[in-house]
Amino acid sequence: MKRSISIILALVFAFSLFAVSSLAEEKTVINLFYGTDSTGAMQKIIDAFEAAYPQYKVNWIEAPASQDTAHDMLVTSLAAGESIYDVFSCNVIWPAEFSQAGYCLAVDRFLDESDLDMDDFSQGYVNAYTFQGKMWGLPWYGNVGVLYYRTDLIETPPATWDDMIETAKAVKGKEGTTYGYALQAAQYEGLVCNALEFIASYGGTVVDGEGNITINNDGVRAALTEMKKIVDAGIVPENFSSFMENECQMAFSNGDVAMIRAWPGYFATAVNPEASKVSDKFAVTMLPAGSAGSAATLGGWGWMINKNSAQPQAAWDFISYVTGPEGQKINAIVAGQLPTYMPLYEDEEILAANPHFSYMKDAIGVAVARPVSPIYTALSESMQINISAVLAGTMSVDDAVAAMEKEMNEKLAEYNK
Ligand code: GLC
Repeated sequence: MKRSISIILALVFAFSLFAVSSLAEEKTVINLFYGTDSTGAMQKIIDAFEAAYPQYKVNWIEAPASQDTAHDMLVTSLAAGESIYDVFSCNVIWPAEFSQAGYCLAVDRFLDESDLDMDDFSQGYVNAYTFQGKMWGLPWYGNVGVLYYRTDLIETPPATWDDMIETAKAVKGKEGTTYGYALQAAQYEGLVCNALEFIASYGGTVVDGEGNITINNDGVRAALTEMKKIVDAGIVPENFSSFMENECQMAFSNGDVAMIRAWPGYFATAVNPEASKVSDKFAVTMLPAGSAGSAATLGGWGWMINKNSAQPQAAWDFISYVTGPEGQKINAIVAGQLPTYMPLYEDEEILAANPHFSYMKDAIGVAVARPVSPIYTALSESMQINISAVLAGTMSVDDAVAAMEKEMNEKLAEYNK
């Protein structure tokens, strides 16, 4: 009797081992490429996805912190036809480049059979992922440039960029601050986002609807002149030209700077007393205006499927979950990111965590998109280099505008050859 029980137990044990291992084997692994995340939102989304789709296991490969480096890593891998990433997050400026180069899969055939309805999404973002009549990914979160300012120092936020300089001079040094203002001025994509806000707010343009370079105009000259005036006004950190989002946010959270230009997602950190010394004394509002009004650059991220993924259905199941209502809700509450799935702006839990979202909903409707072009990265690089030179004082505004016009036209001609 004892012997037969032990045989049965051994069999049960062997069977359960077999069952567990075959279950593990059956799981399809989805490899994703996504940046570091200090908020924990991405892990929560992955956990929720794996619970909803038990047949999948997600393998998160962390992208480098710099998005320009992440872009180049992705391009190298995708151009070589590799399939190490099934899915990857995608900056709103990449779809034209990636679809033209054949790096990503059109998602229209999946969308036709899905519950996701693109009419529920912000149309500006749907357009950003549409190129030559097809959708090349799904929009995830939105971004628009905003002003964070200290309410204990500033009663009325500055209405114009010149007012901002005066306000910054008046408050810097008070309540432990050292600086009046910080912006993203390092030589990278973030500088272009900041510059485009100045350019639009002074009525300038960079590219027209047909893709022609229009950058040689008075609005651009006025915008760059104002940016230079700001960095020369004695209100920004001495090492301002190394500042990206993180440096600006840390300076604000530490109470070192009275105002910063940042994205809405920083709110979740700024309001958290464990991460910020100013959690109860700041507000968010629109950026100051130039001669043509206030403007904000449209940023944001979405998800794409690698064209060479061996498992496009699994990849679709993941990207449609992360960008669908469940994934976007977690991202809005935990990371404070703006939904592009518009019904979420009525969600009470989201609004309780992000009281400023009611204003943001309208802001993403009027934000200025960056030029849509398969060679956007090359055009942006030309702006990064020449605008950096203006801010560093090694090039005049007129020379920088002439150089950008020349280089951008050469790059376009080269592409169109
Ligand atoms: C944010 C925006 C992105 C932009 C970047 C610039 O991540 O969402 O679109 O390119 O900032 O630093």
